[in-house]
Amino acid sequence: MGVTRKNLALLLVTLAASGIWLGTSWGQGSPDPTFAPVSHTATATECAACHMAYPAGLLPARSWTRMMRELENHFGEDASLSPEETLTITRYLTDNAADSPRANERSRRIAAGIGPGEAPLRFTETAYFRYLHDEVPSGVWKRAKIASRANCIACHTRADAGSFAEREIRIPKE
Ligand code: HEC
Ligand code: HEC
Repeated sequence: MGVTRKNLALLLVTLAASGIWLGTSWGQGSPDPTFAPVSHTATATECAACHMAYPAGLLPARSWTRMMRELENHFGEDASLSPEETLTITRYLTDNAADSPRANERSRRIAAGIGPGEAPLRFTETAYFRYLHDEVPSGVWKRAKIASRANCIACHTRADAGSFAEREIRIPKE
């Protein structure tokens, strides 16, 4: 008996391959369930007028740049701002984006799931959002108190503080 040279090589290859797979898998470990909440006054004021101020770490810089260029037609609303405000808010969002050097592990996973040629305007349409929420039955999203996937705070009770921990989730029954 004993491990033959060939078996040993096969074992090493398998271990290496599974190590690589685990290393890139979204399921590996649980990163901190928080995003840095918006800490920039103009962004916190202007971008929370219609919905909560979404953390910059939810989208890559190219998404924020694209969104800030198209504010006059923002999901059917006119969210346009002065050129000065547009500039400072764009800078804050891109400096703290999911693909910025400041991004945490959670944000890096969001960025990793978005192709280099893509600049989604919605975190809710990213592969990582779908992965995190694949156990939520489709009917739940249509409940009156939720109405939209973008309405994070309907279920994540501390979303406005950037916190998405499991124990803080309360799914409205209707
Ligand atoms: C005039 C209202 C209004 C203002 C002001 C506004 N938004 Fe929005 N925003 C919307 C609407 C409406 C939606 C779509 C919401 C939905 O689908 O439930 C949206 C959606 C979004 C989404 C997509 C959420 C998702 O993942 O599906 C992001 C990101 C976003 N807004 C960022 C911003 C930023 C950044 C600002 C400030 C520059 C801003 N919004 C200001 C109305 C507004
Ligand atoms: C229908 C209610 C609902 C809405 C709306 C919702 N989520 Fe979730 N979210 C959940 C559930 C349920 C989970 C899975 C919890 C689990 O199994 O760990 C989850 C998981 C998460 C997690 C992982 C939490 C952890 O502990 O690892 C993050 C981050 C997250 N959601 C962010 C968001 C963001 C950002 C939005 C809005 C753009 C959003 N969610 C909208 C219900 C919701």
